[in-house]
Amino acid sequence: MKYDFDTFVSRRGTDCVKWDVLADNDILPLWVADMDFRSAPAILETLRRRVEHGFFGYALPPAAWRESLAHWLARRHGWKIAPSSILDSVSVIPAISAVVRTFCKPGEKVIIQTPVYNAFFPTIRNQGCEILENPLRCIPVHPGAKGDFTYEMDFEDLERKASDPAAKLFLISNPHNPAGRAWSEEELRTVGEICLRHGVFLASDEIHADLQLPGSRHVPLASLSDAFRDASVTFWSASKAFNLAGLQTAAIICADPAIRSRIHHTQVIHGTEHLNPFGFLAAMTAWEQCEDWLDELCPYLCDNYDAFLEFVHERIPGLRVATLEATYLTWVDASAWGIPSEELARRLEEKAKVKFSPGAIYGEPKGTTFLRVNLATPRSLLLAALERVERFAEAERRQ
Ligand SMILES: Cc1ncc(COP(=O)(O)O)c(C=O)c1O
Repeated sequence: MKYDFDTFVSRRGTDCVKWDVLADNDILPLWVADMDFRSAPAILETLRRRVEHGFFGYALPPAAWRESLAHWLARRHGWKIAPSSILDSVSVIPAISAVVRTFCKPGEKVIIQTPVYNAFFPTIRNQGCEILENPLRCIPVHPGAKGDFTYEMDFEDLERKASDPAAKLFLISNPHNPAGRAWSEEELRTVGEICLRHGVFLASDEIHADLQLPGSRHVPLASLSDAFRDASVTFWSASKAFNLAGLQTAAIICADPAIRSRIHHTQVIHGTEHLNPFGFLAAMTAWEQCEDWLDELCPYLCDNYDAFLEFVHERIPGLRVATLEATYLTWVDASAWGIPSEELARRLEEKAKVKFSPGAIYGEPKGTTFLRVNLATPRSLLLAALERVERFAEAERRQ
C-alpha cells in the first residue's frame, strides 16, 4: 500500500463537525459522512502552494475545472459530457435546493426513495414543496452477496406516485445513502422510463459515486439515453470520495441549455453559484492526480465493512447488516433490540460512548430501528467502537 489509512490522526479541536460537537471527549463518532483519513498528498500540496501565495480574493474557476470533471467522468465512469453542461455550486445541498425551486412551485411534489439521506427532507419542505415517498423494499441478500439484507425499488408504487399531476421531480440518491446500493443499469432505466412517461424530471445525486466497493460499478443515470440526459440533472462532487466536504464545491450537470439557464437563474437569486479557490483546486487535483489514492481507499473501506460484518455476526446478537455496494455508510437493523432508533442512538452515545446516526432521520419504516454507521475511519478505531457496542449490548441483556 502506498497510502496509509490505518494511522489515526486526531481531529479534535479543529472545528470539525464529526468530532467537535460531541458531549464528551470519550465518544467515538461514526456518524456524519466524512472520513477520518487525511486528504491525498497531492491535494495537500496544491492547497499548501495556494496558501503560500497569500491572496484569497474573489476567485474565478478556470475552464480547466470543468474540463477536469468531464475527463474524470469519461475516464472513470465512461460518461461523456460537454464541459459547458456544468454549473458550479457551493456544495450539493444548495444545488438540490436550486433544482427543487426551479421545477416545483410551493405545494408541488418531489418523489424520494426512503429511507434516504436526511437533508433531502428539509431541502424539499423548506421550499413549501411536498414529499412523495416511494419506499425501498427490504429483501434478502442475493446469493453469494455479503450482509443480511438489501433493498430493491418498488416500481409499481413509483408508477402510482409519478402519475400524480403534482409530482414534478424525482430525486434519487445514486448510489444510495444509507441503503448502500449501487443501482444497476436495469433499475435506473426502469425508474427513468417511469418518470419520463409521466413528465417527472430526474435529479440524480451522485455525490457518493466514486466510492464503489470492489465488484460494484457506478451507472450515471443521465448516461443511459439521450432522453434521460435531456430530462435530468446530476449532482456531482469530489467531496465524499476525496474527503473535501468542508471546501464546499460541487457541480450540477445539465445538458439542456434552456433548463440549465433556469437553474442558474435560481442559483444567482440565492447566491450559491460561486466557488472558492481551495475547493476547485482540490477537486481538480483529486481528479487529475489522485486516482491511485481512491483505488487504495475503496478496498480499505471494503475490508472495514468485512471486519464490521464479522464482528457483528460473531459478537453482537440481534444486529443485522445491509449489503454494502457503494459509499462508506453501512445500514444496520437493530429492530430486534426493541428500542426506537433515536432513543437507542442516545443511549449508545451516553453509555457506550459511540455516536451513530439514528434511522429515524432517514425515514426508517414505522416500528423498526435502524442505525447508520460510518465505516470511514482507521480499522482500529472501528473495532474499538464495536467492542463498546458489544459491552453495551451485554449490559442491556443483563438488565
Ligand atoms: C447523498 C448526499 N447528498 C448530499 C450530501 C451533502 O453534500 P454537500 O455537503 O455537498 O451539501 C450528502 C452528505 O452526506 C449526501 O450523503
